Amino acid sequence: MFLRLSIAIALAGVYALITASRQPDAALKARLVRWSTAWIVPPFILFPVFVRWYLRHVPSDLWASATGPMPTATRNARFAVFFSVATLVVALLALIRPRRLHLAHSLVVVFLALGAMGSFEFVRESIRKPYVIANYLYSNSLYTSPMPGDGGYTPDGIDQAGVLATAKWLRTHELTGTNREAAGREIFRVECQSCHTPNAYRGIKGFLAARHWDEPKIQAMLGALDLMHNGVMPPFSGTGAERAALAGFLEALHPCEGTQAHIEDGKTVFQNNCGVCHRIQSAGAVFATLRSMAAPAATQALKDLPGLFPPMPDLKLSEQERTALIRWVDSQPIPKR
Ligand code: HEC
Ligand code: HEC
Repeated sequence: MFLRLSIAIALAGVYALITASRQPDAALKARLVRWSTAWIVPPFILFPVFVRWYLRHVPSDLWASATGPMPTATRNARFAVFFSVATLVVALLALIRPRRLHLAHSLVVVFLALGAMGSFEFVRESIRKPYVIANYLYSNSLYTSPMPGDGGYTPDGIDQAGVLATAKWLRTHELTGTNREAAGREIFRVECQSCHTPNAYRGIKGFLAARHWDEPKIQAMLGALDLMHNGVMPPFSGTGAERAALAGFLEALHPCEGTQAHIEDGKTVFQNNCGVCHRIQSAGAVFATLRSMAAPAATQALKDLPGLFPPMPDLKLSEQERTALIRWVDSQPIPKR
C-alpha cells in the first residue's frame, strides 16, 4: 500500500510537470515546476525503504520461485531500478532552469516514471503467481486447501465434482459426446485465461508450436502444470474427462506436425519434453542422475518418468527419443568440481 501510494504521489507530480511545461508565464512556470518536482522527488527517495519492507514480507517459497528459472521478476526488477533512478535524475534536471522547461523534457519524465511503475508491477505480478493471496487463494479463484465455506472451490473438490459442474459462469455445464471442444474452451476460460490467451498474451498456440506436443502429451502435461516453470501455475483441477477435453481444445489451436528433428536430436527432445520444468544444466541433479546410469539403463528408466519422481508426467517417449536424449546427455561435458 505504501509503495503504491508513493507511486501515485510521484505520478501526480509527473503529470503536473506536463502542465507546468505548457505554461507561458515564465515566473508561474518556474513555481509550478518546483511544485511538481516536490511531489516527484520524495516518493522516489522513499522507494528503497518501502521496497525493502515489501520484499521482507514475501514468503520464502514465493521468493525462491521468483528468483529461480522464470526470469520475469529479476529482469523487471533491474528495469524498475534503472527507470526509478533515471526518473529522479531527469526530474531534478528540470530544476536547473525551471523557467525554460520544455514539453519534451516533461514527456521524458513521464516515459521514465511509467517505465518504473510498469516494471515494478511486473515484478509484483510475477512474485505473487500462482496466487492472488499467497498460499490461500490461486489466481484462478480456487482456494489452495479445503476450509469451511469454501463451496467446493478447491483443486481437490473440483477434481471430484468436475469443473463444469462447479463453475458458475459457463455456457455449458456438461460434457457430451459432441461438445468436447466447446467444453474445453470453457474450461480454458475459467482455469487458464487469468494468465493466458489462446493465441496472444502468453499464448498457448505459440507454446505448442515451439514444443510440438500432441494431444496425449498435452493431456499428460496438464497433470503437472504446478511443477512447470518453478511453480508459477495452479494445478489443473477437474475430472479426467475434462482434462482430456481441455487437451483436445488446446491441440486444435496448433495441431502437432511431427518432424524428424523432434525425435532424433537429443537436445530438442529435452527442450520439448523436459524443458518446461528442467533447465539445461550439465551440473544439475537431472543430468547427474541420468549420467550415473549406464546408457541402456537410463534409456529404460526414461520409459517411466513417474518412476524417477512420482509427480512427473508420464510422457511415453518413444525408444528413438529416449535413446537420442541419453546420447545427448552423455555427450555433454561433465563439469569440473
Ligand atoms: C497464475 C497464472 C497462470 C495460470 C492460471 C495458468 N498459467 Fe500456464 N503459465 C503461466 C506462466 C507465468 C507460464 C510461463 C510462461 C512463460 O515463460 O512466459 C506458464 C506456462 C505454461 C505452459 C508452458 C509453456 C512453455 O512451453 O514453456 C503451458 C503449456 C501452460 N502454461 C498451460 C496452462 C494451462 C492449460 C492452464 C490452465 C489449466 C494454465 N497454464 C494456467 C501462468 C499461468
Ligand atoms: C512437469 C514437470 C516435469 C517434466 C515435464 C519433467 N520433469 Fe523431471 N522432475 C520434475 C520435478 C519437479 C523433479 C523433482 C525435483 C528435481 O529434481 O528437479 C524431477 C526430477 C527428475 C529427475 C530426478 C532428479 C534427481 O534429483 O535425481 C530426473 C532424472 C528427471 N526429472 C528427468 C526428466 C526428464 C529426462 C524429463 C523429460 C523427458 C523430465 N524429467 C520431465 C518435473 C518434471
